[in-house]
Amino acid sequence: MGRFRKITGAIVLVCAIYIAYIMRDTFDPESIRGKKVIVTGASTGIGEQIAYHYARLGAKILITARRENLLKEVSKKCIELGAQEAHYLPMDMAKVNDTGRLIVEAEKKLGGLDYLVLNHALYYWELWDGNIEKLQNIMNVNFMSFVSLASKALPMLTKTNGSIVVVSSAAGYIGIPSMISYSTSKFAIHGFFFGLSQELAMKNINVSVTLCVLGSINTDHARIGLQKFINAQGWMHEEDLPSAEETAMRIIKASAARARKLNFPYEQTRLLQLLSIFFPELVDKLVSIQVDVNVL
Ligand SMILES: *[C@@H]1O[C@H](CO)[C@@H](O)[C@H](O)[C@H]1NC(C)=O
Ligand SMILES: *[C@@H]1O[C@H](CO)[C@@H](O)[C@H](O)[C@H]1NC(C)=O
Ligand SMILES: *[C@@H]1O[C@H](CO)[C@@H](O)[C@H](O)[C@H]1NC(C)=O
Repeated sequence: MGRFRKITGAIVLVCAIYIAYIMRDTFDPESIRGKKVIVTGASTGIGEQIAYHYARLGAKILITARRENLLKEVSKKCIELGAQEAHYLPMDMAKVNDTGRLIVEAEKKLGGLDYLVLNHALYYWELWDGNIEKLQNIMNVNFMSFVSLASKALPMLTKTNGSIVVVSSAAGYIGIPSMISYSTSKFAIHGFFFGLSQELAMKNINVSVTLCVLGSINTDHARIGLQKFINAQGWMHEEDLPSAEETAMRIIKASAARARKLNFPYEQTRLLQLLSIFFPELVDKLVSIQVDVNVL
């Protein structure tokens, strides 16, 4: 019994040290100073906060979204916060073939690229009604434009040993009722970028791909969704959600560490994915109980 306890104790200790080691914060804020960064979907929410963090860390920033007035404000604030440069280019990501303009702009204004942060996304809360054109549009905005931007940025990123940072969602692990189109686009993102990451490694191209899988984060969009479409009996409550600001910092740190993946918050992402492998019916129930079908 004594020996068994000692062995168990040693195993627990080794595991604890290992977990502490892999969880340690190795982030060097100075490593971001002067770095050339693109952030998409940067007019509100998590994208806006990513831009502000990069600004505080002294990066050179190019932001995009659809609304020029908001971009102008965010870019002004970036300079106030300490960005070495801040530029903006309004763009509609549904026009996939037009996205190349953003990469050309980075070359012109920043003279290169270290981080391509693909963050924009479009979604609706609705049950699937067979509208293929709407799905096609969501796939263009959420998926094809990511592929297009990453592909066009690769030559510049290769020169700097840069990083592609992809903001995704647990909706790319599990089909989410009332958000099927969004879920579909996130599944596609996972397939493409996990595969791309391996192909780059096979070709000895030192460009990292960090896939950031997020759960529900406290943004205006999420709050409106929770208030309108989520059942009161469910387990998701506004006040429990992590802030956009904290989430943005997690994303920046994971990409600086060239991590393959970030799951945040853990219980809504990786844990849900693991549960869905072993107890799929339970996870279906947990997920569907959240959605209030009566208001959709
Ligand atoms: C997309 O843009 C490229 C040049 O940037 C052009 O050669 C090509 O014809 C365009 N394709 C479509 C479908 O518009
Ligand atoms: C990129 O990484 C390689 C090693 O893989 C290194 O030799 C090279 O100097 C790096 N280039 C830049 C611009 O950091
Ligand atoms: C890739 O580039 C990063 C950043 O320049 C560098 O720290 C790392 O050593 C490089 N990795 C390889 C395998 O060359």
